[in-house]
Amino acid sequence: MAHGVEDNEAFAAFVADSESKGMLRFLTCGSVDDGKSTLIGRLLFDSKRLFEDQLATLQADSAKFGTTGEDIDFALLVDGLVAEREQGITIDVAYRYFATDRRRFIVADTPGHEQYTRNMATGASNSDLAVLLVDARAGILIQTRRHAYIVSLLGIRDVVLAINKIDLIDYDEERFVDIRNAFAEFAVQFDFRSVVTIPMSARFGDNVIDKSAKTPWYGGPTLLEHLETVAVEDDSGSRPFRFPVQWVNRPSQAFRGYTGTVAAGSIHPGDPVVVARTGQAAKIDKVVTLDGDLETAPAGAAVTLTLDMEIDASRGDILVAPGHRPDVSDQLAAHVIWMSDEELLPGRPYLLKSGTRTVGAAVSELKHRVDIESFKPLAAKTLGLNDIGLINLSLSEPIAFDLYDDNKTTGSFILIDRFTNATVAAGMVRFGLRRATNIHWQALDVNRDARAALKGQKPCILWFTGLSGAGKSTIANMVESKLHLMGRHTHILDGDNIRHGLNRDLGFTDVDRVENIRRVAETAKLFIDAGLIVLVSFISPFRSERRMAREMVEEGEFLEVFVDAPLAVVEDRDPKGLYKKARAGEIQHFTGIDSPYEVPLKPDLHLDTTNADVGELADRVVESLRKGGYLSEA
Ligand code: ADX
Repeated sequence: MAHGVEDNEAFAAFVADSESKGMLRFLTCGSVDDGKSTLIGRLLFDSKRLFEDQLATLQADSAKFGTTGEDIDFALLVDGLVAEREQGITIDVAYRYFATDRRRFIVADTPGHEQYTRNMATGASNSDLAVLLVDARAGILIQTRRHAYIVSLLGIRDVVLAINKIDLIDYDEERFVDIRNAFAEFAVQFDFRSVVTIPMSARFGDNVIDKSAKTPWYGGPTLLEHLETVAVEDDSGSRPFRFPVQWVNRPSQAFRGYTGTVAAGSIHPGDPVVVARTGQAAKIDKVVTLDGDLETAPAGAAVTLTLDMEIDASRGDILVAPGHRPDVSDQLAAHVIWMSDEELLPGRPYLLKSGTRTVGAAVSELKHRVDIESFKPLAAKTLGLNDIGLINLSLSEPIAFDLYDDNKTTGSFILIDRFTNATVAAGMVRFGLRRATNIHWQALDVNRDARAALKGQKPCILWFTGLSGAGKSTIANMVESKLHLMGRHTHILDGDNIRHGLNRDLGFTDVDRVENIRRVAETAKLFIDAGLIVLVSFISPFRSERRMAREMVEEGEFLEVFVDAPLAVVEDRDPKGLYKKARAGEIQHFTGIDSPYEVPLKPDLHLDTTNADVGELADRVVESLRKGGYLSEA
């Protein structure tokens, strides 16, 4: 029945052949004591597939170098949450392969220790079915409940409950039925489509491959029979077209292609597509692979798409079917599995990476933590390692996404710590929060580049940051005058002035300052779009918000100017008498006194105003604009 595949060449055939035979990806959950290793060993041994080490390497390489267009099925393995590997987190998931005449199998084998929720989540995100192992002597444990919850959370709808070590309870039918019922009782809430319970002894092979003579009372399939025949719906082909752009392939002026893997639906030359985020529309010209052009590319295919016209799409954009566009929002609700020893801090800026797109993200609200034993929502202020919670996220800019239930690829993400670069969570989008989900970005014909070109300049933000009284506004004002004389188009945004209008509802708590900077950064961005050189003069005391502002615009459009003077000096200047008031306790949260100022680590320009001539400093700013090519005639 089973036949062998011994080397890489044969593996290529294994993969090539897998489409005609069908592939089942499944996950085994259970601890070593439950007999998981024995079971996997038996499946592999009995089907004589013992070559996973070579494959692991091959897989790692194909993941790293990707999009060779050859090994479609490798792409399946590196999808989704496995992206966190790039972030250097240790995930112990071993993928093993075996085949029978009827089907090919990929088994995700994850350590069962209960602290390894994240491993399980990784394995589950890539699987169609889960085999939950229990020890017949022990029955359903907390761990079984945890496993069932996680696999359902990750969208697995077909489950096998393998009641193992049935030999150790003398093949007792009654006990088997008790365990099956106990599982069924709590599993109803998970909306599994199929739950098949099998009495098994991995050690002696009972009901693994062949039917056991010792369980005459069991009329169901053996594990392998079930794995070979279970109908796993792969409806990704019939879902709306989704194509996350991995990179823009531009070997010459004559060719511009978008490379990636079809995440859902299929595509043909002539099909209309839009860029989800911007709404720009085009038609597919060609579907290109190394082996020539295709008439159609199905879900899972790694291809390069060329379009009938130039559009502005880059890595991280998603090309989608115009009639079925994903949500585009900067607010969403998601389940997260927390994977870091550092606990979740609502309000702290993280990075969110969904597919190939990365944006800033803050947890605006922790709705609840899920009690993994009772599955009940618990009020919580934070999440710790392996905790699962429902959160609201606020993003630095809108992204296109689907709900996890609709598309595991475009509906999942990881959260990354901005300063350590470690993956802290894996998430599944439950719903978008901006109620106006039908608002899509309108593509505009006159864009920033056109507006800037008319003015003969390259727009940018000069972001002056520093303590009150350091000289930000004075220098910004001088710089603007000089630029104005040079015929440049500028605009200035000054903290004191903006706080009289747009931001007059804001005070000086940390929360308000964050919002103050967010709004002024958004405003500055609009002026960039208008083609102007924007001078922003705000204390902007926090690194993360200055970074957020930088990331809102294109690379090279943000110049951080640190206007530096020691506290003693500015306090001595005290132009508005505010330091005196702050010292006297008449003003709270005063920057430098009882509210922090985080010094820029790598400012584009560092101006020490202690003893300097402000005119000279303003000249330095203008000079660096000139050097940076911002003032050359376009
Ligand atoms: S920021 O910290 O949110 O960036 P912003 O630049 O808008 O501050 O406003 C700072 C100005 O507000 C200061 O120049 C000062 O005139 C005034 N101000 C009043 N109260 C405070 C305070 N508690 N801390 C700092 N500045 C204050």
